[in-house]
Amino acid sequence: MEFLNLVKLRQSSRAYEEKAVEREKIELVLEAGRLSPSANNAQSWTFVVANDTEIKNRVADAAYKMGGAFVRQAPVVIALVAEKPLLISRLGAALKKIDFTSLDMGIAAAHICLQAAETGLGTCMLESFDEKKVKTALNIPDNRRIALLITLGYPADKQREKKRKAFDELVRWNRY
Ligand SMILES: Cc1cc2nc3c(=O)[nH]c(=O)nc-3n(C[C@H](O)[C@H](O)[C@H](O)COP(=O)(O)O)c2cc1C
Repeated sequence: MEFLNLVKLRQSSRAYEEKAVEREKIELVLEAGRLSPSANNAQSWTFVVANDTEIKNRVADAAYKMGGAFVRQAPVVIALVAEKPLLISRLGAALKKIDFTSLDMGIAAAHICLQAAETGLGTCMLESFDEKKVKTALNIPDNRRIALLITLGYPADKQREKKRKAFDELVRWNRY
């Protein structure tokens, strides 16, 4: 698919068909995350896949009250867990006051969501959830941070027009 068409196709899916996602498709989507770039190639992440219905529903319950009722419909939820950054990343982050791990996670999430769209799957990134509950559901150690959840499944919502700022409002040439 032409890349820009893929970008247009990807949207936050908040309704899913009652249909399991094939293991190979989940792996394909995660492969895109694995290959995504990160500062200093730190790859400070673990992708925890909840595809067992009972476990996934426990994760969904942790997002339910925060506008995530639709998470229950998704057959798969992926937790992007931030691992301890490399020393060089931590030093760089301290100097530049930039959290590279969050940037890296966002890039990995974008790769995952775009590959999913290319595979005919819908996704929604989620930052609103009860982190403690998700950690308990997925046996994630207390000293780790869950950067994002991503729902994954066959989408049941219609394709929407993108609501975005105008090109000229966002792009400046040669000076701010
Ligand atoms: C980092 C991040 C966190 C998000 N968290 C949530 C969330 O908690 N709940 C939700 O319904 N959507 C969430 N979204 C989806 C955004 O609302 C959505 O991407 C935005 O409105 C643009 O719509 P689109 O994804 O359909 O193009 C999140 C998106 C990003 C990138």
